[in-house]
Amino acid sequence: MMRDSVIFKIENDIAVLRLCNPPVNALGASVRKALIEAAKAISGADVKAVVLFGYGRCFSAGADISEFGIEPPAGTPTLPETIAAIEDLKVPVVAALHGFAFGGALELAVGAHYRIAAAGTKLGLPEVDIGIIPGAGGTQRLPRLIGMKAAVDMVANGTRIDAARGHDLGLIDEVSETDSFEAAAIAYAMHLVAEGAGPRPTSKREDRLESASEAMALLDEIRTSIAKKAKGRVAPLRALDALAAATGGDFAAGMATERAIFLELRDGTEARAMRHLFKAERAAQKIDDAPTEPPAEIHKAGVVGFGTMGQGIALVLARAGVQVTAVEIDPARLEAGLASLKKGLQDRVDRGRMSPQQMQAELDLINGTTAMSGLAEADLVIEAALENMDVKTDIFRSLDGICKPGAILATNTSSLDLDTIAAATTRPDNVAGAHFFAPAQVMKLLEIVRGSATSGATAAALMALAKRIGKVGVVVGNAFGFVGNRMYHRYTWQAYFLLQEGALPSDVDAAMQDFGFPLGCLAVGDISGLDVAWQVRKAQRAAGDVDPDAPYPVVADRICEKGWFGRKTGRGWYSYADGKPAADAEVAALIEAVSAELGIERRAISADEIRERCLFALINEGARLLGTGIAVRPGDIDVVWRYGYGFPLWRGGPMFMADEIGMQDVLATLQRLEAAYGPAFTPAPLIAARAAAGKTTLVD
Ligand code: 3HC
Repeated sequence: MMRDSVIFKIENDIAVLRLCNPPVNALGASVRKALIEAAKAISGADVKAVVLFGYGRCFSAGADISEFGIEPPAGTPTLPETIAAIEDLKVPVVAALHGFAFGGALELAVGAHYRIAAAGTKLGLPEVDIGIIPGAGGTQRLPRLIGMKAAVDMVANGTRIDAARGHDLGLIDEVSETDSFEAAAIAYAMHLVAEGAGPRPTSKREDRLESASEAMALLDEIRTSIAKKAKGRVAPLRALDALAAATGGDFAAGMATERAIFLELRDGTEARAMRHLFKAERAAQKIDDAPTEPPAEIHKAGVVGFGTMGQGIALVLARAGVQVTAVEIDPARLEAGLASLKKGLQDRVDRGRMSPQQMQAELDLINGTTAMSGLAEADLVIEAALENMDVKTDIFRSLDGICKPGAILATNTSSLDLDTIAAATTRPDNVAGAHFFAPAQVMKLLEIVRGSATSGATAAALMALAKRIGKVGVVVGNAFGFVGNRMYHRYTWQAYFLLQEGALPSDVDAAMQDFGFPLGCLAVGDISGLDVAWQVRKAQRAAGDVDPDAPYPVVADRICEKGWFGRKTGRGWYSYADGKPAADAEVAALIEAVSAELGIERRAISADEIRERCLFALINEGARLLGTGIAVRPGDIDVVWRYGYGFPLWRGGPMFMADEIGMQDVLATLQRLEAAYGPAFTPAPLIAARAAAGKTTLVD
């Protein structure tokens, strides 16, 4: 059945327009057309005011992102044209905002003559978060309403504000606290009519805008800090250029400048990469075989093992209001865990990061016990014990006997076989991996690992939990290292080979930081402890996951044999005499000695070679994971890399990059690298098959 994109009626001389495009009233082509038609109808009608609402949960989330990159049907009005038609109306137009008004929706509201918002409504121009700038007058009208200083923060930083702050800034005229917001908005419009208030086009306002010289000085001053925060992204800086165009006093010229920048960015790599991640993050939440009923909410959870990871998981759960029972069989370890948890929270309080009340509220939700029987009523248990299969199977066997039917039993293992763990229970369908990344309170990624028996319901319940605790969940299959760490190992192995061939740690890390990673993988290794990866390599060998004939990163073993495990031992790939990483002559000597031991003549290695080898190692392993179904979608891999490993946002992720390069070129590069550096680069069958079929992307 066709529905109206804008519901339009006239009652008591007030025209009421309702944006209606579920789920978020995006301002797609049909909405824009309907708004233009409504504006025409209003011009010819006897109405005294117009009120513009959003239907359902919000006013609107802005322009329809899914239309970007697709040519609209001929004659479809653009958003700037639509907003101009609303602004040109000869009676007062009130935008009535609830839920949220983001991007083009806030631009529409700013194009109206007056704004009323329900208390708590969120307002923002988050375009820079998807690699663009506002393209429908946001950079031109907003400074005219709230001044350049406040506008810069919203436009270039994408800062969201609430209705109360909007009111303080002059963006919102009235904040409504009542339960009947609609009635309040209509009453506000009638009040304006009774007062004789006329149209008040923002484009004609000059009273809040600083003088051109003041505004330009402000923009110049802020440019350096915006550039620093942008970390390689272009959009925030281009937003400043568009804002600068608002200072000349010529609205039409400013609009033209804004639109030109918007269109240039919209079709560029940064915006496509960031849109890709926006969509991928949402697609990753969809689980094909999830039951249609939403999962039951988790009220009580257990955490088994109360070391650093267990404490982090307990905190994350408590912060979302889940009651947590932490189990540690050894009373001394339990006490130590509780004390360290409390100390961590107290530090936050001392640094002003949380209130003493918040700390107490979180502590009240976490209780510790040495008895597994304390988990009988838990809806979910997450095991975060020692990374040892016998320990884990023992725990799961006893959980199976204790926990109520239907409880989800999850393991935080980062490397062990989930099916073996699940087989220790009589309910493998309820067993899954919940792989948090350290520190669990900070890192946003949660890999939800499905074994061969994990049900869709179990995966869906963990996905819902991820959202509730502020994590981004990605479902992955059961393979050594799952998706993230498995790929990470390929990347670090290339880094080790590069060291053996001639690079030094700072060469490798600087090349990857230039690419956009916050840290290079060798500096990260020093933080997490080189012994951890050493154990993983041993486990990989034991699991038969390492080809004995393929090159092996001897240098990584040699440094561990010295006991140089990274920061915690004062030396790893770098030394840490004053706490900061510094190049270390003894490490360089060790690396050179390994090259000699392997008979490798060291050579100068360029940053481009470092980046190419590390990235193609990632791309190739990602394609293998896709080909074997361990990763469901290419976008899932990119989300894992964004939130688990800090892959630069504006580059989209390794799989996005592979598609951008195109399969033929990816294949040719891998073949060249394979000839030079061996089987790590043997093209993944998926890449070879797609290239042979003449496809440019990893999937259709
Ligand atoms: N266009 C198209 N679809 C959108 C959308 C948009 N602007 N915003 C959200 N959606 C879709 C999502 O893709 C999702 O679809 P799905 O159900 O098929 O997966 C659905 O709406 C619900 O979104 P979320 O799952 O994200 O719901 P939440 O409640 O968690 O979040 C939100 C809602 C805060 C609005 C969040 O979706 C968001 O931040 N959206 C993007 C807002 C934005 O960037 N607006 C600017 C758009 S660009 C623009 O306006 C250009 C203009 O200047 C010309």
